[in-house]
Amino acid sequence: TAAVSAGAFAQGFPSKPITIVVPFAAGGPTDTVARQLAEALRAPLGDATIVVENAAGAGGTIGASKVARATPDGHTLLVWHIGMAATAGLYRKLPYKPLEDFEYVGMINDVPMTLLGSPKVPANTYRDFEAYIRANGGKVNLAHAGLGSASHLCGLMWQSAMKLDKSLTAIAYRGTAPAMNDLIGGQVDLMCDQTTNTTSQIEAGRVKGYAVTTAKRLDSHKLLKDYPTLQEMGLKDFNLTIWHGLYAPKGTPADVTKKINDALKVALKDPKFIKGQEMLGAVVVTDNRVNPEGHKAFVADQITKLKTVIDAAGQYAD
Ligand code: MLT
Repeated sequence: TAAVSAGAFAQGFPSKPITIVVPFAAGGPTDTVARQLAEALRAPLGDATIVVENAAGAGGTIGASKVARATPDGHTLLVWHIGMAATAGLYRKLPYKPLEDFEYVGMINDVPMTLLGSPKVPANTYRDFEAYIRANGGKVNLAHAGLGSASHLCGLMWQSAMKLDKSLTAIAYRGTAPAMNDLIGGQVDLMCDQTTNTTSQIEAGRVKGYAVTTAKRLDSHKLLKDYPTLQEMGLKDFNLTIWHGLYAPKGTPADVTKKINDALKVALKDPKFIKGQEMLGAVVVTDNRVNPEGHKAFVADQITKLKTVIDAAGQYAD
């Protein structure tokens, strides 16, 4: 049989619509990043049709598993975040192996998080919020998007750092878009979510912002620059930034993965995409993590780092 010449697969790629799977409900931060990326990938992939499909559940692992099992031809991709690393340490058994069952196409952005309260929480500063939480511990409920989601991980880290004796009641959603609705409505009291999803709600006064989770203040953001970091509020070393990456099923031909990575690099330099991300408090990746090997090395390191965090919290998912 004739050896398939290098690039043979990529020549006809894409030969049908590309599906980007988002492992959370529509309208949340992951969905927002995926849709903005899809828009920026269209032209560099030869005016490709790209559809975003939401496959939520189990903190993002349902959607990830769907992509790990998809036909490895480059027409099914996954946009996921820090959950790829957090779930590796949190779930006792996963339906895929994070570092073996995916082709790592490249990373997209870094996204800060904000700690929010519902309008019903009688606190307007972080100090008052902290006092309220300490006084009402078990009665206060925290919303998240499933075990291993960014909001769940942030909640876990924040409660550990706060050394809360009574852990908060946690309520899981299929994404932080539905969770945000209940936070605005006061059905839940607090949530830690990505600035992608929270900035406009804080600006509109629908929820209260208390602090940011990054090590440094977000000085370049007109609204978020006024929020203290959790380190400033006394939570030593607290430092959490969410990141998003692009993945294909293991076995996707190397020349196809390269073609998608080339398109990703064009997208990450697209002024419209960069501006769209900046408006949401996100920063597009410009370092070696945009390359498949840099992406994979970073995730492997994050898996190790987050395992320590999760073991310290002592909560696991079966
Ligand atoms: C979402 O897109 O809903 C979020 O990424 C959920 C989360 O990870 O907290």
